[in-house]
Amino acid sequence: MRTGSTPHEDRTSVSVLGELGAQAGASGRLLPEIWMQDGAERVEQALARLLCAEDDGETELMAAMRYATLQGGKRTRALLCLAAGALADTPAHMLDDVGAAIEIMHACTLVHDDLPAMDDDVLRRGLPTVHVKFGEATAILVGDALQAHAFLTLASLDAPGDSRIALVRELAQAVSAEGAAGGQAMDISLVGKHVELDRILAMHRMKSGALVRASVRMGALCAIDEDAAHAELYRALDLYSACFGLALQVVDDILDATADTATLGKTSGKDAAAQKPTCASIMGVQAAHQFALDLLRDAGEAIAPLGPRGERLAQMLQRANAYLFKHAPRA
Ligand code: IPE
Ligand code: IPE
Ligand code: MG
Ligand code: MG
Ligand code: MG
Repeated sequence: MRTGSTPHEDRTSVSVLGELGAQAGASGRLLPEIWMQDGAERVEQALARLLCAEDDGETELMAAMRYATLQGGKRTRALLCLAAGALADTPAHMLDDVGAAIEIMHACTLVHDDLPAMDDDVLRRGLPTVHVKFGEATAILVGDALQAHAFLTLASLDAPGDSRIALVRELAQAVSAEGAAGGQAMDISLVGKHVELDRILAMHRMKSGALVRASVRMGALCAIDEDAAHAELYRALDLYSACFGLALQVVDDILDATADTATLGKTSGKDAAAQKPTCASIMGVQAAHQFALDLLRDAGEAIAPLGPRGERLAQMLQRANAYLFKHAPRA
């Protein structure tokens, strides 16, 4: 597996995007489906490179790390990172690796989330979960090793030391006791309980929202210092990502209750079966649906002051909106 700095032949900036410029819409702007597809492909390539198989023999742990990370996923967090990176003239090669590091960390949280001691899930991204395929001990170690690999990726970036430290800090915070780990602990503690909506929202902000927030902030941090001159920008991004992160988990909760296993690629109806309080169970599916739409609208309003610079972030909201309506059409 790669742990040192990685070679990059392509040093285009995302604001240039080489020949893709020829595919821009009539306005001269890059169409969302083009930059998203291009971005997702670049991140897949970065992931494949960062988790490449060893020539001299791959251990089972490494094979399981690749299995956990390279088999699909919507890559929402990496695309958010790329979209925020487009706010400035950020080198594409840096964004690709930062987006990949975020997806590696996300994969770590999913592997641990699926463990028998957590959600005890057997299906993820349409395939047997890591502990089903490789055993529980290996799955625990896959999570550990992926987490380390995400940080190694950031620490090895071809970027100044200050930037690398800022990115490592951001990602560490997102999965800390005040972020995803704390949120997951809360998730477990609330099983079978009747709780107020506020507690559910606090849990969602930590277990899923924190990594979404980091994804946006890390894309911006690649090129824009968080200093007094950019305080407004970071405030707008924080509001945007708080709403987006919450919406993402609310949509996940709705689909758990309404979509089928084949559509989800993970077992549907798990939240109710495990007596997990969710937005859908507390508010009802229809109200949760409206809540998700309201959150996506609020996220759009948060970045409206950024104007055309925030176009890709706005397009990510349209993508989330379309995903919700595709899989959970309103009654
Ligand atoms: C699933 O996230 C876990 C949540 C935090 C809701 P995604 O829905 O983004 O999962 P993938 O990456 O597309 O599989
Ligand atoms: C998981 O939430 C959030 C994480 C921190 C991984 P869920 O337990 O609802 O995610 P899924 O439905 O298993 O993907
Ligand atoms: Mg869970
Ligand atoms: Mg789960
Ligand atoms: Mg879920």
